[in-house]
Amino acid sequence: MNIIKLNAIDSTNSYLKQLAKETQLQDETVVVTNKQLSGRGQMGNGWSSREGQSLTFSIFKVFNGLLAERQFAISMAVSLGIAAAMNELNIPNISIKWPNDILSAKRKIGGILIENVLEGNFVKQAVIGIGINVNETHFLKLPQAGSLKLATGKTFQLDEVLQIILKSVFNNLEMLSQNDFLKMKQLYENHLFQKEKVSVFETPTASHFNGIIKGVSEIGELLVDTENQGFRKFQLKEVKLIF
Ligand code: BTN
Repeated sequence: MNIIKLNAIDSTNSYLKQLAKETQLQDETVVVTNKQLSGRGQMGNGWSSREGQSLTFSIFKVFNGLLAERQFAISMAVSLGIAAAMNELNIPNISIKWPNDILSAKRKIGGILIENVLEGNFVKQAVIGIGINVNETHFLKLPQAGSLKLATGKTFQLDEVLQIILKSVFNNLEMLSQNDFLKMKQLYENHLFQKEKVSVFETPTASHFNGIIKGVSEIGELLVDTENQGFRKFQLKEVKLIF
């Protein structure tokens, strides 16, 4: 592992993507910054974090033989790796909100942004961005957000949390190369937030419906037994889980 520490940068994902284009990057290179000026989240959203209170970092990972149609496996490996690290740190009630938000009870404490480079039918490399709310206690714009400190009342050393997460995530990424996809999918489904419970979903046109989350498909669609339309599969842009 090779760690690059930067004092400030727009986005660790953007930085690492650019670096990977310009140089021959070592597999498992990590970029971590104290201050992310323009962090990016899923679906074009932003990701903001307070300097010194949170972790913002990205991992460059090379893959050999991972089929593009199985790329959701990266998302499962990383979210399960973070969930295991949170358990090791005794953060209570950890679950994964599809596709890869990390929750403690009902509050989001971490987010993941994965950007893959494909070559033919294979994933060649990925930049895996991770943001964890560690010691923040005030979220002005996001009252639903949480942090390790809010969940436990304790203050954490950022570097210690980073090391535990990296060890766990790299360990899980290794599992990917053993091709144990179904085992990982089962583990992921066991961690799914609201699994087998009645949830409320929102569509892009802002209509709502009820359904029960049953699991995920092999390409990462959410499987929902809906109240009015039977069993359905949803892609990320098609539905948002409200609660
Ligand atoms: C999300 O939940 O929307 C994903 C958030 C991902 C944020 C991290 S912070 C480090 C890395 N760099 C970025 O610009 N984004 C990711």
